Amino acid sequence: MLDSIKRFVNPASSSKSTEEIMSKIMKAPLPQHIAIIMDGNGRWAKKRGLPRTAGHAAGMIRVREVIRAADELGIKVLTLYSFSTENWKRPKQEVEYLMKLPIQFLKTDLQELVDRNVRVQMLGDLSAIPPTTRSALHEFVERTQNNSGLIVNFAINYGARDEIMSAIHQLIDDVHSGKITKDQLDESFFHQYLLTRGLPDPDLVIRTSGEIRISNFLLWQIAYSELWFTEVLWPDFSKRLLYQAIDEFQNRSRRYGAVK
Ligand code: IPE
Ligand code: IPE
Ligand code: MG
Repeated sequence: MLDSIKRFVNPASSSKSTEEIMSKIMKAPLPQHIAIIMDGNGRWAKKRGLPRTAGHAAGMIRVREVIRAADELGIKVLTLYSFSTENWKRPKQEVEYLMKLPIQFLKTDLQELVDRNVRVQMLGDLSAIPPTTRSALHEFVERTQNNSGLIVNFAINYGARDEIMSAIHQLIDDVHSGKITKDQLDESFFHQYLLTRGLPDPDLVIRTSGEIRISNFLLWQIAYSELWFTEVLWPDFSKRLLYQAIDEFQNRSRRYGAVK
């Protein structure tokens, strides 16, 4: 791995116990919005001689755990990159399996999310999602829409370029129809046309599996996010790693171009 990024990856922060890291991070300001690129399911399965789909099933368990952990910390928004606009390029059987997961997750986890006061939202174009999966996704949103706790965004059939292009199309329509004028358009106005309207930008972006790239995730919103990478594959992710990422986030100096 490049030496320049080595220091960002799993720092030796921790001879501490998981509980000790948790109580440490609770004493400093937490990121309001954490976004995660959950990567490495396929490699996790391959290492075990299992089909890639087994990696996705194992990854779902981590989704449940990371939602619980974020909720317990009192994080406001958690965005989980679940299926990109580019992931349709994968083998048909894998895509079909991925499309079945939300239906299963609905059965096993919806009630817990409701009980936790979690509000689920979807980021992405759901029109291309198979109807039974789409209904499951809508059910998550509808059953949790009045909840006021942690907001969990599932980015499904999400691509940042797609999101930005759709925003531009909508803006042009609104200018043509006279609903808005060009003068109104500034950065915060543009934000209202994005799928994350009303939400703070991610403070912290986590990517698992050792890939150091963004893969078309939240390009507009992560302009000033802190990025944290780990070699750990998503099905091996843990509450402890989430705490470690936050611990390191709290030690970063966010300057936004200014001098501190
Ligand atoms: C992430 O794991 C899950 C999705 C993108 C749906 P991958 O399936 O990309 O796993 P690798 O990168 O092939 O190991
Ligand atoms: C990014 O992972 C998308 C999700 C985690 C859903 P990919 O595995 O699709 O990204 P690339 O292809 O390695 O960039
Ligand atoms: Mg991948």
